[in-house]
Amino acid sequence: MDGKKPSDTAIHDHTYRIFPNDLNAQGTVFGGLIMAEADRLAHIVAERHSGRICVTASVDSILFHAPAGHGDNLIFQTMINRAWNTSMEVGVRVMAEERTTMQKKHIVSAYMTFVALDDHGKPTKVPPVIPSSKDEKRRFEEADQRRSLRIAQRNI
Ligand SMILES: CC(C)(COP(=O)(O)OP(=O)(O)OC[C@H]1O[C@@H](n2cnc3c(N)ncnc32)[C@H](O)[C@@H]1OP(=O)(O)O)[C@@H](O)C(=O)NCCC(=O)NCCS
Repeated sequence: MDGKKPSDTAIHDHTYRIFPNDLNAQGTVFGGLIMAEADRLAHIVAERHSGRICVTASVDSILFHAPAGHGDNLIFQTMINRAWNTSMEVGVRVMAEERTTMQKKHIVSAYMTFVALDDHGKPTKVPPVIPSSKDEKRRFEEADQRRSLRIAQRNI
């Protein structure tokens, strides 16, 4: 099975315009919107990489570092970090961009694990990830450590 580079399947700078109905009572963006959008985009990347229908197996803890509000755009960067046998880790980084100054702040990072399914709905083998840049190689190594933690948690 031929490997794929993270850049072959990544979604760069997917931009979401915030409207008033996206805000909570505090006037900041509803966190569930960011999580749902991140899951949708990461799902696309997993299906591009595997060439298969995928399901979300787990989402690591999500930290909201800073809020986004009306007047910001959300920018999502989504890339596969590593694939194992049937599962893949996809990372999503979200930034809030002030819409006129384009000043950006990092608001959320998330790691999601997807499993590829065969025609009978059973987990099926996925191609390896071939990291090339320094950052891709770092994420590739770190993904293995995160996987160990997930497996340990799953077995509790
Ligand atoms: C995810 C799912 C397919 C795994 O099925 P399973 O029978 O438990 O499969 P296995 O135990 O053989 O594990 C398959 C892979 O999933 C990984 N996996 C399973 N649970 C996981 C978890 N909680 N976190 C991370 N990886 C997980 C395993 O490590 C394994 O990876 P590998 O093949 O690369 O080594 C199954 O639990 C499922 O269908 N869950 C519901 C998914 C869903 O509905 N998502 C929301 C909507 S998309």
